[in-house]
Amino acid sequence: MSEPLPGKLRAKWDSLIATEGKRLGLTDCRPFLENKMVNDIFYEGRFNGRPCIVKCSSKAPDSIKNEYDLSLRIFRHSPSVTPEPLAYWMSDDNRAAFVVTAKIMGYSLTELIAKGLSPNDVDRVADDILMLLRALENTNVVHRDLFTDNLFLDSDGHLKAIDFQFAIDRTNYRECEWMQKNRKYQYVVFGVNHDLGLGVWNDAAALLRITEKLPQSPKTKEVMEKLRKSFTNGLFRAPPDVMTKIKLWFYALSLVMQKFLHRKDAAKCARLETRLNRMRSIVLRHVQK
Ligand SMILES: Nc1ncnc2c1ncn2[C@@H]1O[C@H](COP(=O)(O)OP(=O)(O)O)[C@@H](O)[C@H]1O
Ligand SMILES: [Mg+2]
Repeated sequence: MSEPLPGKLRAKWDSLIATEGKRLGLTDCRPFLENKMVNDIFYEGRFNGRPCIVKCSSKAPDSIKNEYDLSLRIFRHSPSVTPEPLAYWMSDDNRAAFVVTAKIMGYSLTELIAKGLSPNDVDRVADDILMLLRALENTNVVHRDLFTDNLFLDSDGHLKAIDFQFAIDRTNYRECEWMQKNRKYQYVVFGVNHDLGLGVWNDAAALLRITEKLPQSPKTKEVMEKLRKSFTNGLFRAPPDVMTKIKLWFYALSLVMQKFLHRKDAAKCARLETRLNRMRSIVLRHVQK
């Protein structure tokens, strides 16, 4: 579970939601999640009467606008693959922002896989995974953080992706400043999409891994075949600018040092070694270019 927010920051958000939020149409807001790695606090409430989720960040406010813009683009293309983005707000000094999204009435794919999906649901989820990938490809959005916690089966029977904070526009690459400064978070996101050979930032790779976790059927096999094709066609890598290379090298170096310092703790060393192996191939790939 997450730690509570420091009191002052919590009071600041409560007051912003009551004033700026209200002006936009927010009512009946109550917090349900606090102090995640990137976001300060989440509220659920109503937006002009509709159930909604409000996601608030002071650490990476530009990623909030990014989430609104790119999820809106996807929603306009394929309204069933993501919940409707309803509004966003940014402070005048650009240091705090929130995004309002229609609330999904359903369960995450993580929960559904744990509970066990019916064969019918499996096939529908597999179809929707492919539909999500097509929507991403056709709108030139790379989500970069697709895993079962960010996919939900909604009450309309469709699988929906959330969490577009660190998505990018493939044709107009510009990375959120917070992410550039936080290699550790970038490592987390890289790490997820990374294991399938050259799958860095390749959403098809992440979706393939998710489909592999479903109970297998002729439909899932057919979908996986299409995902594999898209994976090869859709390889995308970060522009290997000098600063990125240097930062990645430093992060790799810090892992080597940590491993040395914790050399007596076998479990910690093993975890660091896994990270290091992933980092090594990321670094090598960047250097080769
Ligand atoms: N539109 C939504 N409908 C229902 N629940 C949501 C919605 N958006 C976010 N949540 C809940 O809030 C959690 C965190 O949201 P997410 O956008 O994934 O942020 P984070 O980057 O912190 O993971 C989700 O795991 C989910 O439980
Ligand atoms: Mg998430």
